[in-house]
Parts: sequence; structure tokens; C-alpha cells
Amino acid sequence: MDKHGHFTATFLNCLDNISHLLILRCLIADSRGQVMSLDIEAIRADFPILDRVLPNGKKLVYFDNAATSQKPQVVIDAMSRYYEEYNSNAHRANHTLADEATTALEEARSKISRYFGTTPENMIYTSGATEAINLVAYGWARYNLQRDDVVVVTEMEHHADIVPWQELNKEKGIEVRYVPINSKTFTLDMEAFEVALEDAKLVCVVHTSNVLGIRNPVEEIIEKSQAVGARVLLDCAQGAPHERIFFDNMGADFVAISAHKMAGPTGIGCILVKSDAMAEMGPFMTGGSMIRRVSTKGTTFQEGHAMFETGTPRIAEAIGWGAAVEWLSQFDMKEVHAHIHDISSWTADQMLEIPGIRVFGDPNHPNSSGAVSFLHDSIQSQDLAILLDEGGFAVRTGHHCAQPLMDALGVPSTNRASFWIYNTLDEAQAFVEHLRYVCERFA
Ligand code: ALA
Repeated sequence: MDKHGHFTATFLNCLDNISHLLILRCLIADSRGQVMSLDIEAIRADFPILDRVLPNGKKLVYFDNAATSQKPQVVIDAMSRYYEEYNSNAHRANHTLADEATTALEEARSKISRYFGTTPENMIYTSGATEAINLVAYGWARYNLQRDDVVVVTEMEHHADIVPWQELNKEKGIEVRYVPINSKTFTLDMEAFEVALEDAKLVCVVHTSNVLGIRNPVEEIIEKSQAVGARVLLDCAQGAPHERIFFDNMGADFVAISAHKMAGPTGIGCILVKSDAMAEMGPFMTGGSMIRRVSTKGTTFQEGHAMFETGTPRIAEAIGWGAAVEWLSQFDMKEVHAHIHDISSWTADQMLEIPGIRVFGDPNHPNSSGAVSFLHDSIQSQDLAILLDEGGFAVRTGHHCAQPLMDALGVPSTNRASFWIYNTLDEAQAFVEHLRYVCERFA
């Protein structure tokens, strides 16, 4: 928020809650020169869990969206309908239920791949973004990289995009190079990135940090990586809930996505893979479904994405995710980003007014949104989370599966409030008030 925003926020603290938020909304709309068209109340009505009252009588305020988003009724219904009406295995039998399950599974693949701007042939279902990245490590890098080949990762990565590369270092002797973050701006050190790129074969970067909410300059990263002939893997687990991903236009070779952070169910995600990169891949997990012929003499495999989808498919999950992308398709993700950015930047500004609170990252940067990581200088993060929970506010606490980033920030853990499409400024204001009360009382 600029100086005007700071003055406004301070002035508004003197007003009562309702007029406060009404005025604030107008100011936010004015400052962007447009009025938000998202109908947040209608969106909230799609999520039954948002009416939840906690055992202590407090109404739930869910600010743990970077860990997992809530699910709209259409997703819950689509999955229930599968279990109630046509639960059956897919691709395996000729009875009616099996046909219906197979059709629904493949229809979901079409919807999901279309949503991500690609074709079903370029999408491999996985259990989530973690398995998606492991599939690149064990299905592509293990077959294509040799001893001393360079894989570039960043300090900002989730463990899922660090540990597989460390394991391949042990197994194959690949070199893993880490790009640091700038400790003042919390952004990637792009000069160090360019140095690390020398002779790189693969560059693995998180699109949007799950800790800081910062979106990395992925376009520049792709362009510079490709200029040295490196393939690019983007971890879009946190990016996809905030911005529309159009894989075929992006230029990345691999994009990892998780369904459960974007209104879909847990247990499913995908890796989007360019056709030429897929042609270089070999089997990762082996067993049923991915084979063409098995005999005691050996096995031949399916081609394309089918080679990587082993065992009984994630049928209910795919159907649920298909319903989720249909639900999300009704919104302009730029408006969704603007809505979330308004909440996260306002919240961070207000939090910084509370003595003892430190905020990590740059929530006011236009590319940042969705997550505000913070700490109090004398209340332990676990204690703070419990005190916030007592007020009904769900935030995450811990290292967020990003210990190298915690090391770079110089802290063992943070509290993190993460916002999504259904959150409101009223919730943010209630959160800031409760946080202020807790800090004044317990610091
Ligand atoms: N990676 C998820 C998070 O950031 C679970 O909370």
C-alpha cells in the first residue's frame, strides 16, 4: 500500500467496523480504477464448510488456503454421484458401470487439460505436485542426465522440488545448484540465477512461493533457461490457484499442478509435459495399466501418458477435479488475483502496525498474493497459532516444507495466513483485530 493507503488505513481505524469496510472497499476499487465484479457472497454460498461453527462457538475463518483450499458443493456432489451411482473401475471391463466410470474419467481429463491450455496427450495424472515432480526426476532426469549434469533449483523451493534432486545427486552424481534469494526483497537473485545457468540441463523453479506468496519471473526464467538449452520444470502448485496456466503457450517443458489447492480434491494432480520431453521419458512406477504385454520373458509398455499412469486410476478424484475446473472457469483469474491481493496486502499492512509482528515477503508487490508469512518477536509461532485458532482463525504454522527458505530468512518457522477467492476484507479485519488483541495480551 502506498502512503495514501497507509494514511487511509490509520484513519479508518477510528471508524466503526461496517463503515470502515464499506469505505475501504470503495478506496480499493478507486485505486485500481475499477470496481470488482466478483460476487464474493455468491461464491461463499458454494462452500458449505464456510458456515462451520467451531467447537468453541466461534465461526470459522479459513486462512490456510495455501495448505489446501475448501471445496465447492459441485465438487462434493460430482464425487458423491460417482460413488452413489456408477462406482466402478475404469478401463477394465465392459459392463455399464465400468463404461460410465471410464467415460467420466476421460471427460475429466479433457476438461482439466483444456483448462490448462493443452491436450489430454500432454497431461499425466499424478497424486499431486509432489509425485508430478518426482515423475520428472525419475521418469525424465534419471533417463536423460548423466554424472555432473547440472540441475538448477532455488532456495525458495518446496521440499518436493529439492529432495528428488538431492536423491538423484546421490544416485547418479548430478550436480544440484541452488539460486539464493535476495534477503532484502525476498525475491530470487536473478544475477545468481544467470551464473547458475551455465551448462544447466534442467531448471526447476517454483512459480509462486507457498511461504511468501511471491510470483517468480517465470517468463524470464524460461527464456534464459532455453537460451542455454536447459529444460524447465515449473512447480505451479501455488500458482495455479491464483493465475490461469496456459501450458502450450508458456514454453516450460514440465508443469506440476496439485488439484486440492484449487477447489479440487486431495489425492490428484498432474504433470503437463511437452511432447518432445515426454518422448524422452521412461517408466517410473510399473505395474498394471501402464503395460502393453507382460510375459515371463519381459514386458512392453504403453506409449505416451498411459506409460506413467500405473494401477487403478484416481477416478473419483479426477471427476471431482473436472468439476472444480468447470467451477473455476466462470471467473476471470485476473480478478481473482486482484481480490486476493487486496486482502493480503491490506492485512500485511495492518499487521505491521502491531508491535512485535514481522512480515516476510512483499505482500504489496502487484505479483504477490495469497500468503502472508509472519512472526511475533516474543510469542512462539505454535502458541500464536493456537491463540488465533481460539478466535476461529485457521492459519498454518511451521516450516511449510521449505526449510532452505526458512534458513535464508533466518527463522525456523513462520505463521502463515493464506487467502483465496472466498475470503473477505471483513474476515481480514476480524483477524487483524484478534491478532492485535492476542499480541497485546500475551506478548
Ligand atoms: N505445501 C503446502 C503448504 O504450503 C501443504 O502448506
